[in-house]
Amino acid sequence: MRLLVCGGAGFIGSNFVRQRLAEHGDEVTVLDKLTYAGRRENLEGLEVRLVAGGIEDAAAVADAIEGCDAIVNFAAETHVDRSITEPDAFVTTHALGTYVLLEAARERSLRYVQVSTDEVYGSIEDGSFTEQSPLNPSSPYSATKAGADLLVASYRHTFGLEALICRGSNNYGPYQYPEKLIPLMILNALHGDKLPVYGDGMQVRNWIFVEDFARGIGTVLERGEPGEVYNVGGPDEAPNLDVVKGIIRYTGADESLIEYVTDRPGHDRRYSLGSEKVRGLGWEARTRFAEGLERTVSWYRDNRPWWEPIRSGDYRAYYERQYGRALG
Ligand code: NAD
Ligand code: DAU
Repeated sequence: MRLLVCGGAGFIGSNFVRQRLAEHGDEVTVLDKLTYAGRRENLEGLEVRLVAGGIEDAAAVADAIEGCDAIVNFAAETHVDRSITEPDAFVTTHALGTYVLLEAARERSLRYVQVSTDEVYGSIEDGSFTEQSPLNPSSPYSATKAGADLLVASYRHTFGLEALICRGSNNYGPYQYPEKLIPLMILNALHGDKLPVYGDGMQVRNWIFVEDFARGIGTVLERGEPGEVYNVGGPDEAPNLDVVKGIIRYTGADESLIEYVTDRPGHDRRYSLGSEKVRGLGWEARTRFAEGLERTVSWYRDNRPWWEPIRSGDYRAYYERQYGRALG
């Protein structure tokens, strides 16, 4: 396939590109705005055409889309905490950006996969969300992602666009920016810095190893039914505190590093996705959480040159604002 991968220089997008090149022989163009989370290093050694630009920029999209058969859109602002303090970019990228991409897909009759999130369903105390569950987002991040999903669905309904939506649960693995729980805790543990747990630490997330999610998206791209939504959830769920204790075990850090800090406003208590529908397309998660977490800790331990420039740059200022303390 000749793919346009928007947001392909980020965490999941770059893992997806790596997988498509190695296992499917696709030709890939990446369109990425190269925000703080989008890094050329994530695509190092991969044979791709990289166009630096925003999905909200119609000229950049027209340039990047040349010769492509399908679009997979990962491009997004993805950190819930940032959506609470600075929501503007979330609205621009998710609403305007998705609209510009959909128009480009419609003009060229391209297949279009929107990468979305379990957060659009909101929080669930027991059981799991299905694709029929109502959208009930909590944060500016998830509300704008839900808005983008609705826009995608409208392009299917109104214009017959070959559009599909893939909703994933919490991803973890190599190349994840260390503002997110798992890489943040791994790097802090390796440095002997405090491990900031929000609230009581009993919020539950449904963890999926990034390679499994990437394969799920590939499955939907190749075999999904246009107009359909597919949930792609991980095989295990865990409260944040257990995740942090697992990281402490694998890094050999001390439990006294755990520090309970002010909770995130509007914090969702639990996410859980039922993934029967995508299993019907032949997809299955391959990596259980304990194994994936150990592999992830090893990757960060072995890839210092990847994260060192992050820990010494703007990230330090972000960290200080977010946690009210300097990194050690
Ligand atoms: P990320 O923050 O690591 O990467 C996002 C990428 O999008 C970056 O490369 C960034 O430069 C790029 N980008 C941002 N705004 C852009 C714009 N206007 N135009 C072009 N590029 C832009 O995020 P991620 O974790 O890899 O998430 C990728 C997608 O998967 C997102 O749509 C996210 O909502 C979804 N998702 C993430 C998770 C998760 O746990 N990380 C789970 C489910 C779904
Ligand atoms: O569920 C899918 C979503 O998962 C994606 O759509 C988002 O893009 C992605 O960022 C992620 O959102 P979360 O808010 O669940 O992820 P985050 O890593 O920010 O936080 C995971 C949990 O850990 C959450 O309950 C908040 C908590 N947390 C997070 C940080 C950064 C802490 O306790 N301390 C922290 O320092």
